[in-house]
Amino acid sequence: MITFEEQSGIFHLRNDKMSYVMQVVRGKYLLHRYWGAPLRKFRDSRAFQALDRAFSPQPGDYENERTFSLDVLPQEYPAWGHLDYRTPAYEVRLADGTTATELRYAGYEIRPGKPRLAGLPAAYAEDDEAETLVITLKDYAGHLTAELYYTIFADLAIVARSARLCNTGKDALTLTGAASFALDFPDHDFDRLSLYGGHAAERSLERIRLMRGIQETGSRRGASSHQQSPFLALARPETTEQAGEAFGFSLVWSGEFSFRTEVEQFGTTRVVGGIQPDGFAWLLEPGESFQTPEAWLAYSAEGLDGMSGNFHQLVRQHLLRGPHRAALRPILVNNWEATYFDFDDEKMDALAQSAADLGIELLVLDDGWFGRRQDDNSSLGDWQVNTEKLKGGLKGVAESAHKRGLKFGLWFEPEMISFDSELYRAHPDWVLRAPEYPLSYSRHQLVLDLSRQDVRDYLVEAVSRILRENEIDYVKWDFNRHITDAFSAELPPERQGEVRTRFVLGLYDVLERITGAFPQVLFESCSGGGGRFDAGMLYYMPQTWTSDDTDAIQRLAIQSGTSYVFPPITMGAHVSVVPNHQVGRVTSLQTRFLCALMGAFGYELDITRFSAEEREQVKQHIALYKQLRPTIQLGNFHRLLTPFAGTKNETAWEFVSADGRQVVLTYFKTLAEPASPVRILKLAGLEAEADYEITEYLPAQCTSVDGAGKPQMQVKGQVYGGDELMHSGLTVEKIDTDFAAYLWVFNKI
Ligand code: DGJ
Repeated sequence: MITFEEQSGIFHLRNDKMSYVMQVVRGKYLLHRYWGAPLRKFRDSRAFQALDRAFSPQPGDYENERTFSLDVLPQEYPAWGHLDYRTPAYEVRLADGTTATELRYAGYEIRPGKPRLAGLPAAYAEDDEAETLVITLKDYAGHLTAELYYTIFADLAIVARSARLCNTGKDALTLTGAASFALDFPDHDFDRLSLYGGHAAERSLERIRLMRGIQETGSRRGASSHQQSPFLALARPETTEQAGEAFGFSLVWSGEFSFRTEVEQFGTTRVVGGIQPDGFAWLLEPGESFQTPEAWLAYSAEGLDGMSGNFHQLVRQHLLRGPHRAALRPILVNNWEATYFDFDDEKMDALAQSAADLGIELLVLDDGWFGRRQDDNSSLGDWQVNTEKLKGGLKGVAESAHKRGLKFGLWFEPEMISFDSELYRAHPDWVLRAPEYPLSYSRHQLVLDLSRQDVRDYLVEAVSRILRENEIDYVKWDFNRHITDAFSAELPPERQGEVRTRFVLGLYDVLERITGAFPQVLFESCSGGGGRFDAGMLYYMPQTWTSDDTDAIQRLAIQSGTSYVFPPITMGAHVSVVPNHQVGRVTSLQTRFLCALMGAFGYELDITRFSAEEREQVKQHIALYKQLRPTIQLGNFHRLLTPFAGTKNETAWEFVSADGRQVVLTYFKTLAEPASPVRILKLAGLEAEADYEITEYLPAQCTSVDGAGKPQMQVKGQVYGGDELMHSGLTVEKIDTDFAAYLWVFNKI
């Protein structure tokens, strides 16, 4: 998959889906040459034009040529402040204050498979599944070496990139920026796509024209965040979900990050992504090195859906780990929206009883079971069960679940500490805080200093003890505030710029130790909902709570947005009560079910209070979900319509089982409209030659007073060709009601 031509200096990473080409020019500069559809051979048809750029101080090579300038050439890992004014990949301050350095090509190595990145989550691959190119660049004056890693996978249009920077000089130096990758495109005819949001409103898609100048998508919150996600895509203006070119970028990193795009004077585009450089300063003593997080670069000639398909395969086959990686996820009930902090053994027992009757498989006890916690003011850090609330302790609740054939799960928020806690009274120096300034709170809580070994050891033991002493099958790992005042009492002044990064590395150490010691436990990460939904967290915990907003209509956007990078199996999605607790909306049980069905499915309401009719409906939903679960969780996903484009009033999701035999299709129309055109859905990913029979049909439920617009179509049992469903399409029966939701299940004949 990787070749190097000595004479031309061309590196070509190639598989059936993609080519990525670089070139060593003049024996020293590593330039980017091409990324896109696969090329049999790169013969330099788009040679650099040796233009005289006219303006004499144009920075050039040492020979002072007017026609060769690093400021316009596409570079793979450009420096700050030296011959290139565009956004740099790395910034460094040498001991004497010099900031201009020059990394020159020094050699390469091609390895089978994919090396691990020490202390960091990253995609993994067997030796026959991928190949890795390591290119070494050495600083002209010998202070620094960079190893650039490029992994190409046999069957994916993805390159995984990262960099390792090593101090090879005699004095200490400070990295003030270390991106995972930089990449130059020869033009700027792109739309720029990013995912933005807020708490309970994560990951809506923003699609705008790529602007001249610099634009940034990023986080300075110490976490990947609700506000912006570590994802960026450049797509051609004509690119749709199903057609056209798209270039996607995602980081395997849970901390603050930055994606910068820069369209420069000659209309080329640079993309730089990695750890947020603002506030970052990492001291490297001679011989020490810094490994950047990994970035994934996904190419698609088949629209945004094709880009997502690549990311989904990578996540499912090369990121998720452990026995739960490709295991069907249990249907759960979580007591948070059912009880909040107001629960006891009896309430939990009643939930367990109802859960078992309904066919639910896992009972989760959320926040409030420990210390003296009655609300969110106290006790984070005191991970001992509150026996006033739970007289039988955790063992009692676990037993009440287990004896009914349910699994039992428990909530933690280990990275946090309450001011009102035994832990804070014992270790006030364990929090992140600026020494001379007041403590800064968020949700009444402070953040533990995970850069410290003693804090990490305490956490590993505190959580492990609970998992050892109780029969716990699932853990929800929450993180309910962002980082401020990132000062560690233990680090010297010259290392304080490392704290935000060390916090995340410390978290990864804790997660590796705990998840490694309890492989049978299913972990779900959470951060006030989906505030840390990123590939870094998924490496340790194979599913994430997608959002604290459980309203089915809001979730259409949140889950569609999340699916640009992450597959359905990773998304926690629950049916909750109406009126909905976040937005007050009333939607039907069917609409809530069909929306939550998209992911790792569950309930989050007081299931003991269902009416007899609701109970019957829920039982049917659960039985149906169990039939469809392998297709939804282990199959391929397609976005047919999203609330971000077109009418913005419709969403359609399609799931095709791994063997292609079952197809699940859902369609949602948010607001009913008069005189709206007939909706025809064109399916994706079917076999054109095969026939498909509709085996299940749930039309929207009519709510109009006179019953007008009731479902009429007899669609169950109908047979259509795959070609017909993909090219001619399927008509959606028009039913006049707000928040309409439909389901079709097809079986390939
Ligand atoms: C935020 C989570 O997203 C909720 O589901 C719940 O666990 C609360 N935290 C508990 O404090």
